[in-house]
Amino acid sequence: MTCALVVPAAGRGERLGAGVPKALVPVAGEPLLVHALRRALASGVVDVVVVVAPAGEQQHVRTLLSPLGAADLRVVAGGAERQDSVRCGLAALPEGVDVVLVHDAARCLTPPSVFRSVVAAVRGGAVAVVPVLPVSDTVKRVRAGRVVATVDRRELVAVQTPQGFSCAPLRAAHRAADGAAPATDDAGMLEALGHEVLTVAGDDTAFKVTRPVDLVLAEALLSGGRA
Ligand code: C5P
Repeated sequence: MTCALVVPAAGRGERLGAGVPKALVPVAGEPLLVHALRRALASGVVDVVVVVAPAGEQQHVRTLLSPLGAADLRVVAGGAERQDSVRCGLAALPEGVDVVLVHDAARCLTPPSVFRSVVAAVRGGAVAVVPVLPVSDTVKRVRAGRVVATVDRRELVAVQTPQGFSCAPLRAAHRAADGAAPATDDAGMLEALGHEVLTVAGDDTAFKVTRPVDLVLAEALLSGGRA
């Protein structure tokens, strides 16, 4: 039983506007990627780590991550879209992996408990598992600047990472999605093939650092000892 973690960390982070790839932006003195991987390893459920780094940054990323002591750390270059980067990561997995977690470097404060509950659900027989949170805003569908519908938010959840998968169906979904419009998450590709996707409880601190305000929140949580 081998669990691999694939960390897409090759995004440019344009919405963040930090001038460096998002995964390498420092929060409380360390890059987002270091915070993310430390928490993943602390879960005790990850055997192999594949980090998908921005092109040209592989050696730098390896140097940053080696103090964390992952038993098997692989660093590969990413692609144009997140989905391409995940595919590059899957290609670097060793033989014998049966569970794959895909976790955004940008969700750098996701606690170890979420990794454990996702893996437990996959080991319990689920093909695909996503951590979710209820949606707190009212959500509307808008066309050309006008509201056309209000969606019942009781039916909606926001989806986080790590997302967990049985390895073979995840690989098959990525093969099937090759050339299609890029998916924003991996579970969506399995859904498209008709697989059931199970949910587990997400965590408020697993938010994705996307906009400048997210960095302020991450910094505050870390310096206040709450993450
Ligand atoms: O852009 P977004 O915030 O959705 O990215 C989510 C994660 O996917 C980030 O950790 C980012 O580094 C990664 N990513 C990637 N390759 C890309 C685009 C995004 O690895 N081409």
